[in-house]
Amino acid sequence: MVIEETGLPHGVMEGKGAYNRHAAIPARGAALATPFLEQAVRKVALDPVDQPVVIADYGSSQGKNSLAPMQIAIRNLRERTGPSRPIFVFHVDQPSNDFNSLCGVLSSDPDRYAVNGAPVFPCLVGRSFYEQVLPRGSVHLGWSSFAAQWLHRVPSLVPDHFFPLFSTGAARAAFERQAAEDWKAFLSLRAYEMRPGARLVIVMPTLPDGGISGFAELMNHANAVLREMADEGAITGEERARMVLGVYARRKEELLAPFASDGEFEGLAVEACDLSELPDRDWADYQSDRDKEALATKHALFIRAVFMPSLASALSRAQDGDGEAQRSFADRLEDGLVRRLIIHPTGADMFVHTIVLAKAG
Ligand SMILES: C[S@@+](CC[C@H](N)C(=O)[O-])C[C@H]1O[C@@H](n2cnc3c(N)ncnc32)[C@H](O)[C@@H]1O
Repeated sequence: MVIEETGLPHGVMEGKGAYNRHAAIPARGAALATPFLEQAVRKVALDPVDQPVVIADYGSSQGKNSLAPMQIAIRNLRERTGPSRPIFVFHVDQPSNDFNSLCGVLSSDPDRYAVNGAPVFPCLVGRSFYEQVLPRGSVHLGWSSFAAQWLHRVPSLVPDHFFPLFSTGAARAAFERQAAEDWKAFLSLRAYEMRPGARLVIVMPTLPDGGISGFAELMNHANAVLREMADEGAITGEERARMVLGVYARRKEELLAPFASDGEFEGLAVEACDLSELPDRDWADYQSDRDKEALATKHALFIRAVFMPSLASALSRAQDGDGEAQRSFADRLEDGLVRRLIIHPTGADMFVHTIVLAKAG
């Protein structure tokens, strides 16, 4: 079944800087990839001429979580280039991303990477990474964190749930097909944009072989809140049924599938594919402070910031351009989640994969 396109954002984070304020979990996930990023930067082929070095950050959102990896990349590049070679950093996200917050972070966050007149130039690209976003053969180093799990389109509804992990049968097969197709499309486009000898580091939430992550339990609670909202008339049954996230956590064999036949795909070879656990630090805090409300609030605000705009795109009034409809939906969802998670304190341990790809050259 093909889902009707609404024209509303799919996969975009909550605006006005909300994602920046509540996205500690992806920041911790991306931090697990630091050693891989450092090693990748050391291996990037740099030609001897003094041309700019190009870094691309695919799916940067509002930018706060890009600062640490970009700092690491620039610091390691500087050891090789010296202080004067220009560096471009292209932050790529969908046109409806909150680019105002991103600009604010890049110009005035205390941790910003372009400071003191050093020749580092941040640039913004408002285009889907399922299209070509930079010129052929231009990128030295690509980085993408917690973004490539968002699919190009939602291929199916998920009966009685909004999270594709809980799909079965034909719906499940549709998500698997879409995820395989999108992964190859994402890799082909990046391969086209990369220079010979470039490196691409991608960090994504994943699932361990044969298991699921603790995060799934949190999604079940969110699903129960949506059901409650439908029962009390805050949303209609049709709206609830249309709410499906276009996300898919690929397992290791799915990530490596394009490389399976001869070890290469579109000139890219796998240098590393690492599975790491991402324990829920908020849960660890709760184990010592027993503060149910603090735990519930952090998780509810994270779910709101990441998933609310995609869920709200199923609301008929939001499709008609009613911004207030989205706000009241978001507030009710957050409120219901906090109440529910106080009653059922839930940990959200996750797993992440870091994959490092080298472009032949
Ligand atoms: C969870 S945020 C990750 C942000 C940041 N990289 C981090 O690590 O916290 C996912 C980002 O991917 C972006 N995204 C999803 N699909 C995209 C697409 N097709 N093209 C560009 N960006 C996309 C979303 O708009 C969102 O800003």
